[in-house]
Amino acid sequence: MTDLVKYSTAGDVAVVTIDNPPVNALSPGVPDGIREGVERAATDPEIRTVVVIGAGRTFIAGADIREFGKITSGEKPRDATSLQRLLQAAEDCPKPVVMAVHGTAFGGGLEVAQAGHYRVALAAAQVGQPEVKLGIIPGAAGTQRLPRLAGPAKAAEMCAFGDPVSAKDALTAGIIDRIIDGDLLEGAIAFAREVAGQPVPKTRERNARLAEPVDFEALRAAARKRLRGQEAPVAAIDAVELATKLPFEEGVRREQEIFQKCLFSTQSRAMIHAFFGERTVAKIPGIGKDVTPLPVSRAAVIGAGTMGAGIAMVYANAGIPVLLKETSQEALDRGVANIRRVYSGSVAKGKSTQDKMDRTLALITPTLSFDGFEQADIITEAVFENMALKKEIFRTLDGIAKPDAILATNTSTLDIDEIASVTSRPESVIGNHFFSPANVMRLLELVRGKATGARVIASCMELGKRLRKVAVLAGNCYGFIGNRMFAPYIAQALMLAEDGTPFEEVDQALYDWGMAMGPLAVCDLAGLDVNYRIRQEYKHLEKPGVRYPEVETVLASRGHYGQKTGRGWYVYEGTRAVGPNPEMREIIASYGRVHRQADREEIVERTVYALVNEGAGLLEEGIAIRSVDIDIVYLNGYGFPVWRGGPMHYADTVGLARVAARVKDFGWECAPLLERLAAEGGTFGKWVR
Ligand code: 3HC
Ligand code: NAI
Repeated sequence: MTDLVKYSTAGDVAVVTIDNPPVNALSPGVPDGIREGVERAATDPEIRTVVVIGAGRTFIAGADIREFGKITSGEKPRDATSLQRLLQAAEDCPKPVVMAVHGTAFGGGLEVAQAGHYRVALAAAQVGQPEVKLGIIPGAAGTQRLPRLAGPAKAAEMCAFGDPVSAKDALTAGIIDRIIDGDLLEGAIAFAREVAGQPVPKTRERNARLAEPVDFEALRAAARKRLRGQEAPVAAIDAVELATKLPFEEGVRREQEIFQKCLFSTQSRAMIHAFFGERTVAKIPGIGKDVTPLPVSRAAVIGAGTMGAGIAMVYANAGIPVLLKETSQEALDRGVANIRRVYSGSVAKGKSTQDKMDRTLALITPTLSFDGFEQADIITEAVFENMALKKEIFRTLDGIAKPDAILATNTSTLDIDEIASVTSRPESVIGNHFFSPANVMRLLELVRGKATGARVIASCMELGKRLRKVAVLAGNCYGFIGNRMFAPYIAQALMLAEDGTPFEEVDQALYDWGMAMGPLAVCDLAGLDVNYRIRQEYKHLEKPGVRYPEVETVLASRGHYGQKTGRGWYVYEGTRAVGPNPEMREIIASYGRVHRQADREEIVERTVYALVNEGAGLLEEGIAIRSVDIDIVYLNGYGFPVWRGGPMHYADTVGLARVAARVKDFGWECAPLLERLAAEGGTFGKWVR
């Protein structure tokens, strides 16, 4: 036995305990350890049954994902033998093997459980095959055993979409055999004694459900739609379909081929980068575990407009009571009505219940005064984007907030230091930049001013997780990480349109490339008036001799603001675009520019490399800590396709020499970091300041 797996006995039951913190991943040594435990139990005459259980917070959460990088980089070959020997040993054990599940039995964890003869679980446990979220498919016979337990339809759905399944649903589906109340080990041992001495059911021989009818083509179509651009979901469905057609061993062999192909794909590398990236961004250099976050049990929000109302919902959804302040009853009523509408919509769609809605709403206290603000642990300001107004509010907050309260602003463009300067405690001031709609978008950009304290940053990072957001720390500059990069991206899209590429083709090219929306459709959604105002306000930052797009300014000056006025780049019925706005062609024609149509490749290169070039600048200036921070911002706040890993990872995939060369072809100023790395054959991913 290894240190990672322990063997003990409880009378005639052997207990094999996996102890590989934090999540009992199947790291080297773990599969062998479990197998040795099962084999020892099989040969011990005192033992009649075996229970396999996880120590700590979970059963096995899957293969060790860190190993995948070593395999694809050539550092070590993939050796699935240990895992396969474990599966075989568990299934062939002549004594019943009971898998006792708590926490999350995901991926290889669920596959190990499937090779046992029985599965029991706590009610709070979840099971799932989330491999597709890493761009791969189950690789330990999950696509072959799961359909034998749950039926091919359920198995294909689980393997293709990767969503977790509750213990209750797993019981109904046939994946687990019993839900245990109370202590899992005790319950599993009791269950084991019930089945001791009985013939063992081998999952690979349970073929009865394989004949259930399934429309695999419809499933593939659904996967292509819901996970547009991703290869693994369809591959996972193919593998499950093979289970219905081939003998078990042949199915497993084919699964391995598909798994291997997916593992070595650029999509998988990108998605694994995103998985670890989401965890990396929480680690801030210089802020260690010794910095204890401030407890947050009460919040307050100022402004109940688009963002303030959304932010109040974010707090309430996390169970944190929140005050929501406005200046007039009318504005307050409007904000509360919007909040109600969102919750009622969830109830109507069956995503929530009336009772849950009432309990959540009760956590939001609308108010016109600052009463109670002195008790708030965090106060988030979300009033109009106006420096004088924000300063006035922070001056007031400085006078009433408790000494260690976090004072946050949701500003999207304003200088955090200037806002902080009006308080006597700039160390407490931080940007908490939510994205619209705040209750939906996962990104939370934290913006650190020059005085922002480590404890305030650590607290907001921790709070981000509680609020179910992905928090990324940015430095203070115009637009921070996300919007600063977005500006040149949008500008390139606009200039492509100005130069004669039909604008719907610009949008379509980027949508087909994987972006959630085309850039011009995004402008219509955000409001062309907003861009227009920002453009006017920041005209002084524009560099002489550099071309900036004009076309939106003309459109906005005609009162066409996008979705909100029913007309922008597109013509709208409600929020649905019914076609391009013909006025755009007329405006563009009026420029009298030489018509030049870019092909799809150029559209993508101009826009995406604009992101990359600006991102390189942000890295060098220290606005973004690491390139992966930029990637996580783009994956969670800007609809960048996860299977491309974010703009910086994507650039690394293309090769920085190519990116730099194109940047120069386009006549742009190449960011010095990009130029340097391109010359050295380096990558953003490996670059350290
Ligand atoms: N391998 C390696 N490390 C893992 C891991 C895994 N499977 N799962 C989690 N970790 C690491 C995380 O990187 C993190 O490390 P850090 O502390 O150094 O940042 C630590 O474990 C804790 O993870 P989380 O912060 O995510 O902890 P949570 O409690 O929030 O979530 C979890 C736990 C739900 C298990 C979540 O980590 C998760 O979803 N993990 C991935 C599960 C998965 O995808 N499994 C399938 C793997 S592929 C596979 O099994 C192939 C097979 O078919 C052969
Ligand atoms: P909004 O115009 O929808 O709402 C602002 C609200 O603040 C209004 O309801 C107004 O009555 C209220 N308000 C004004 N002065 C107040 C005061 N002194 N006390 C209390 N309430 C007051 O604006 P929106 O879009 O919600 O933006 C708010 C902030 O969030 C701005 O700083 C904006 O830049 C930022 N932001 C906006 C995003 C968006 O997509 N709309 C995205 C991210 C940030």
